[in-house]
Amino acid sequence: MAFTEPVLLKRIPQDPSKRKVFWYDDYVATGGYSALKKATTMTGDDITKVVTDSGLRGRGGAGFSTGQKWAFIPKERKGPHYLAVNADESEPGTFKDRYLIDYDPHQLLEGIAITAIATQCDIAYIYIRGEYHRQAKVLERAIAEAYAHEIFGRQGIFGSNTKLECYVHRGAGAYICGEETGLLESLEGKRGWPRNKPPFPAIAGAFGRPTVINNVETLCCVPHLIERGPAWFKTMGTPKSAGPKLYGMSGHVNRPGVYEDELGITLQYSIENLAGGMKGGKYKAAICGGISMGVLGPNELEVKLDFDDVRFRGGCLGLGTAGMIVLNEHTNMVAALRNCVRFYAHESCGQCTHCREGSAWMHKILSRILDGGGRASDLDMLLELEKTQGIMPGTTICGFADGTAWATRTFINKFYEEFAALCPEEPRVQLTIRRGTQNVAVPMGSNTR
Ligand SMILES: Cc1cc2nc3c(=O)[nH]c(=O)nc-3n(C[C@H](O)[C@H](O)[C@H](O)COP(=O)(O)O)c2cc1C
Ligand code: SF4
Repeated sequence: MAFTEPVLLKRIPQDPSKRKVFWYDDYVATGGYSALKKATTMTGDDITKVVTDSGLRGRGGAGFSTGQKWAFIPKERKGPHYLAVNADESEPGTFKDRYLIDYDPHQLLEGIAITAIATQCDIAYIYIRGEYHRQAKVLERAIAEAYAHEIFGRQGIFGSNTKLECYVHRGAGAYICGEETGLLESLEGKRGWPRNKPPFPAIAGAFGRPTVINNVETLCCVPHLIERGPAWFKTMGTPKSAGPKLYGMSGHVNRPGVYEDELGITLQYSIENLAGGMKGGKYKAAICGGISMGVLGPNELEVKLDFDDVRFRGGCLGLGTAGMIVLNEHTNMVAALRNCVRFYAHESCGQCTHCREGSAWMHKILSRILDGGGRASDLDMLLELEKTQGIMPGTTICGFADGTAWATRTFINKFYEEFAALCPEEPRVQLTIRRGTQNVAVPMGSNTR
């Protein structure tokens, strides 16, 4: 493992007073667009092979192999292909894509253009969350520069055969539009309701045509990969989680912010070496990849932040976005979970009963517990509810409900005593029936006739 210098953040210094937007001229002066020039001399298959060989996995949450995803796009052309760039970034605790767009928009545009060559894409849509006003403006100006310099437009990328148009599409502020098929529906001008799969977007995506959907950070890795190759990429990270990674550190830490390191650093290292240590008290827990992945507990500081260790040793759903919310010893975990679940209850698109009703009931139960009305059976009820929802039990259309489930499961299981203290055993009500002249106690569930 060796992370020696910033890759994705090489143009974005840690010191805020030294940061500036790298517009086209600055970008080119610092080596920008040389990877794209190289890519115009390569075939789409060669580019895809480089990306596959590097082991690059999606940085939007699911960690799926990027090269494999591109390879699903059909080779024969029966109409346009699309690229949907996921800049929705609505997962609580996640703010890394905004940072990349804020200061280095051409890094993303270069990644988009190379991906277009690899996947024979005709139009790229950058789907950006509605709240990112400034970032949408930055992108629009950078895109205009890219048109002016023959990257986008009818002449073809630097005069090559790949002709690419690029547009910014602004969302209206719904979390579910970050889910890739919700995003596509919204892009098509409809309500952002996730679609049943299959068909997968690579076969029938935007407007029914083959579509690649990638996260901003994923695409920003691509120019570096083309320039420096898969072997270099694999010098960073772990065998199954290669490359650099942005960690968005927030919560009770001294230096919240976006930091770059390799995949596979430990949670402890991220808190102490990136975020400047704990603030206001000792470490208690860390939401590791946006709230949908669940929470790492007190004994999990040594867990590695990569796609597998967080899952298998840390008991979470995965690394997610590596948007870390670090919590100190004074945090009320019941209140923290209620906060998470309030978000899910509000943002559920409502198509699936388990997700819509389950999240609403979880919110009601947790609110009652916090208001002093907790019962021992509430914890069983919450754990039963979380087990009923998600793609993994196969009860919902999209992975949103898995997020609700994993947050609830890990918070309650890892901090059971804290929840149990607010949920006392309720006195049992003994049911009786009249038999002759006597009241007879009835065991619960027995036939009372
Ligand atoms: C509820 C939900 C919200 C999501 N939000 C985002 C998001 O804001 N940004 C993102 O890149 N991926 C998000 N994803 C993951 C996308 O569905 C998709 O996997 C990702 O954009 C693919 O890009 P990647 O392979 O480059 O990671 C979300 C998934 C779910 C289930
Ligand atoms: S799981 Fe939830 S958010 Fe996803 S489609 Fe079903 S109701 Fe909508």
